[in-house]
Amino acid sequence: MASLTIIGGNQLYGKLRVQGSKNAVLPMMAAALLLPGETRLFGCPHISDVEAMAELVRTCGAKAVWQESVLCIDASMVVAGKIPAECTEKTRACVLLLGALLARCGQVTMAKPGGCAIGERPVDLHLYALKQLGAKMEGGEMLCCEAGHLTGNEILLKFPSVGATQNAVLAAVAASGITRIHNAAMEPEVEWLCRFLNKAGARISGIGTMHLEIEGGAPLHAIDFDVPSDRIVTGTYLAAVLSAGGEVLLQHVCPKELRAVSEPLIAAGGILRETKEGFLVKKQKRLRAFDYLSTAPYPGFPTDMQSQFLALAALADGTTVLEEKIFEARFHIVEELKKMGADIFLEDGCAIVNGVGKLCGSDVTALDLRGAAALVVAALAAEGTTSIEGVKYIQRGYENIVRDLSQLGADIQIG
Ligand code: UD1
Repeated sequence: MASLTIIGGNQLYGKLRVQGSKNAVLPMMAAALLLPGETRLFGCPHISDVEAMAELVRTCGAKAVWQESVLCIDASMVVAGKIPAECTEKTRACVLLLGALLARCGQVTMAKPGGCAIGERPVDLHLYALKQLGAKMEGGEMLCCEAGHLTGNEILLKFPSVGATQNAVLAAVAASGITRIHNAAMEPEVEWLCRFLNKAGARISGIGTMHLEIEGGAPLHAIDFDVPSDRIVTGTYLAAVLSAGGEVLLQHVCPKELRAVSEPLIAAGGILRETKEGFLVKKQKRLRAFDYLSTAPYPGFPTDMQSQFLALAALADGTTVLEEKIFEARFHIVEELKKMGADIFLEDGCAIVNGVGKLCGSDVTALDLRGAAALVVAALAAEGTTSIEGVKYIQRGYENIVRDLSQLGADIQIG
């Protein structure tokens, strides 16, 4: 397996355009199956999760082809075949095909979804939402859902799951009558999916709130859509600059979606400015500790930034307590950061990080996407050479982290 080699110590300077959002485009790809004709996703990131989803879309009978950075999905023909484990184990987002195929074909059979090793990832909320709309389920190794007719209903999610909200929306646009989703996830990626579907003819209101209302049954048509910027990649690059030092302008960003990330960075002494051109980030001195931070559903602090903040906290002045409330296994990166000299211990779902000011290069292994990003953030500031195994994880979500960081002056290579 390929590894990344980073020689720490170079400050980062320059401009960088942030890629399109993984978590926004994956649900749009599922949604494209509802739209007869060719949907074009502009500025689609070339990452392995998108490739895996494109393969899934093809398994469903649609065509998915690249024209440079535009992903074209022709869903004139869609069939609800059997989606095997070798397709679903590559990306967790395959679960969104449940809602999309129920809506388009009235049935779907798929192996249970895979994804990163960040903890138990049940699908009970997805299945509950679809059942509320009239889907019948069969258990076993495969997920089998069937609905001769979907009917609008009230859906009350006991937790605002991003994927379950998206699945409910996908199925509800094809259901007859009104569906209301209460305690819906408010993540920007839910908002983007709703805007995408409304552009295609759907009638969704309450967008951006925890109460979504969908008037189902509207005729849908294929569309062109610009994939929004990736807020987690933006956050990772903010962390990279505040780790390595320097001054960088991040372009094609949405600072509004990043408040829960930028505010603690500013409170810790990072310099972040919204300009007409983008997000300017600058490190003037060592960051102070973050005191206490806890992951939470949007607009709270995102679990997808927790690992990168662990790396920053390891370098900061003082003690940070970082609590993980969404995915329990996200702390396995702690052992790897400790190999680089970080002082971290775990207690009751919290990482207690005593900043050490200096990390040292080491041989480390990534086991999930954001953990891999955190090791890169740490390695940029570490003394000496860090070798990171598990590049395939980073390729799931970062189009070309080597190109991006080299462009800013980092000494980073893949080999
Ligand atoms: C999405 C994101 C992921 C992000 C996460 C939380 C995509 C492709 N992935 O994942 O990057 O980390 O949101 O912001 O957009 N849960 C249940 N039952 C369910 C579904 C979820 O108990 O049926 C639990 C999960 O175990 C987890 C929590 O709900 O503890 C949040 O999961 P969810 O919001 O569904 O995350 P994903 O949509 O899988």
